Amino acid sequence: MNTSSRADGRTRPRVVVVGSSNTDMVARVARLPGPGETVLSDRFEMVAGGKGANQAVAAARLGAQVTFVARVGSDALGDQAIAGFQADGVDTTYVVRDETALTGVALIGVDAACGENSIIVAPGANANLSPSDVEAASEAILYADVVICQLETPLEALKVVLEEAHAVGATMVLNPAPAQSLSRDLLCYVDVLTPNETEAALLVGDVNASPLDAARQLRALGVSSVVVTLGAAGALICDLDGETIIPGRHVETVVDTTGAGDCFTGALCVALAEGKDLRQSARFAVAAASLSVMKAGAQPSMPTRSEVDALLNN
Ligand code: ATP
Ligand code: RIB
Repeated sequence: MNTSSRADGRTRPRVVVVGSSNTDMVARVARLPGPGETVLSDRFEMVAGGKGANQAVAAARLGAQVTFVARVGSDALGDQAIAGFQADGVDTTYVVRDETALTGVALIGVDAACGENSIIVAPGANANLSPSDVEAASEAILYADVVICQLETPLEALKVVLEEAHAVGATMVLNPAPAQSLSRDLLCYVDVLTPNETEAALLVGDVNASPLDAARQLRALGVSSVVVTLGAAGALICDLDGETIIPGRHVETVVDTTGAGDCFTGALCVALAEGKDLRQSARFAVAAASLSVMKAGAQPSMPTRSEVDALLNN
């Protein structure tokens, strides 16, 4: 934690999120189509999404002072995205309006029976997020307790975030989604890595690796702490203090899991920024994410602090 910045008596932890913003085009279907197949949907919605934006909104609703560093197009979808961030109190000073590319779009099918999804992302302006966009936000990073990134924006920008966060002593959390292989040079800057089971296995180059094996290998590659999300089963922590399962919370009716991982990462970061340890933070994140799967959509499903506190005190 950036203790120098917390010595000023402020009560809200500071979180900087660097990443993607998308408009999600969501169609609910009786079952997801196979290759070459067409299925009809009985419900279509356009909702705010994108891994970075979802994590920023989750963290803001859970009580953090959030600055978002991103790119959206100079189009109507970009206007809507920014208006949504501002309604949630997210600082949009460093959300750049790209003149050359459209706001990112995600085409999402949601299986109405179980809430599972399949997603195609057209990155648009997200692909132009640059090292200089990150450098422009260096003052926000300087005062951050926690900095969060994902892999929906270019690695060149991520490298700068990792170096800047490290230099100022902020806790660096990387949600490695969508999965791609990462060099040891990058991983060694990561304080907390939050892959899901598939991403963890892909990161270690062994699709058959168990979450525990993958987490151990990722630590050996230089990541301080690994938290593998396990869907309904909760999360696995692997760090210097050992290996711990944080059980999932039972949800009677899962409506839509889109953004559950983002909710988990956003919530984990708020708790870490408040000074909670990794296990307490993961319990908080599991509770928040369990609430998110009860509602449709990515950002619309992110819970408020009072909803999570009520669940934990129940
Ligand atoms: P997604 O891609 O759907 O956003 P993910 O694959 O990144 O999610 P998961 O591991 O599926 O991440 O889920 C993240 C967290 O959300 C889990 O750790 C858990 O706390 C919660 N969660 C997900 N699915 C369920 C469920 N069916 N019931 C209860 N909690 C769930
Ligand atoms: O993690 C969920 C998100 O992935 C969606 O909101 C979609 O935009 C894609 O980025």
